[in-house]
Amino acid sequence: MEILPEIKKRLSPVIFKKDVVEREKMDMLIEAARWAPSCMNNQSWNYVIVNKEASTRSALEEGLSRGNAWAKEAPYLIAVGAIPEEACQVNGIPYYAYDVALSVMSLVIEAEHQGLRVHQMAGWDESTVKSALGFPDEYRVVVLFALGYEEDPSVVWNDLDDRMRAKAQRERVRKPIAEKFFYGSFGES
Ligand SMILES: Cc1cc2nc3c(=O)[nH]c(=O)nc-3n(C[C@H](O)[C@H](O)[C@H](O)COP(=O)(O)O)c2cc1C
Repeated sequence: MEILPEIKKRLSPVIFKKDVVEREKMDMLIEAARWAPSCMNNQSWNYVIVNKEASTRSALEEGLSRGNAWAKEAPYLIAVGAIPEEACQVNGIPYYAYDVALSVMSLVIEAEHQGLRVHQMAGWDESTVKSALGFPDEYRVVVLFALGYEEDPSVVWNDLDDRMRAKAQRERVRKPIAEKFFYGSFGES
């Protein structure tokens, strides 16, 4: 038995093809994102989709950390924001970021299904991103992600510096199951 290939084979690429995403596929990604569960069905997420031609694109790119410079080449950069006060607060936990994450993961799985890839990022400056995209003050931007078709690194290998080559060759690893998953009580494997 194997788990869904969209989950097992999903990865966060650093090299994207320049190709735009077909409108029909983009619509399906949006549909997947909007059918995610959320606390009290608040649907806290608000997506701003920025393609290469968008007037906001260069200002948005200014907000990326140096380590995420690779994302400037991605055909789409997408920011997701929410109003913390409008989402659930239970046991002191603000669920807005959880709502956003569920929606993005739903989009990610659909993207994999459509032959697309997503690379999520936390490395960017929130005030730069907020003002670039016109998010009102009361919003927090939770995540920025790159979207597009993955490029085979071997096709562009000669154009890559050592850092990008290392990123492109990065092995996907996970901690052992027994360290993170318990039955009955914490620490019981
Ligand atoms: C919330 C979040 C923030 C992340 N931030 C960054 C980032 O700023 N830069 C980056 O290159 N990757 C970032 N990543 C990607 C992770 O490094 C990546 O998901 C992890 O190493 C596992 O690799 P995989 O997605 O290919 O399985 C982020 C992922 C998540 C979910």
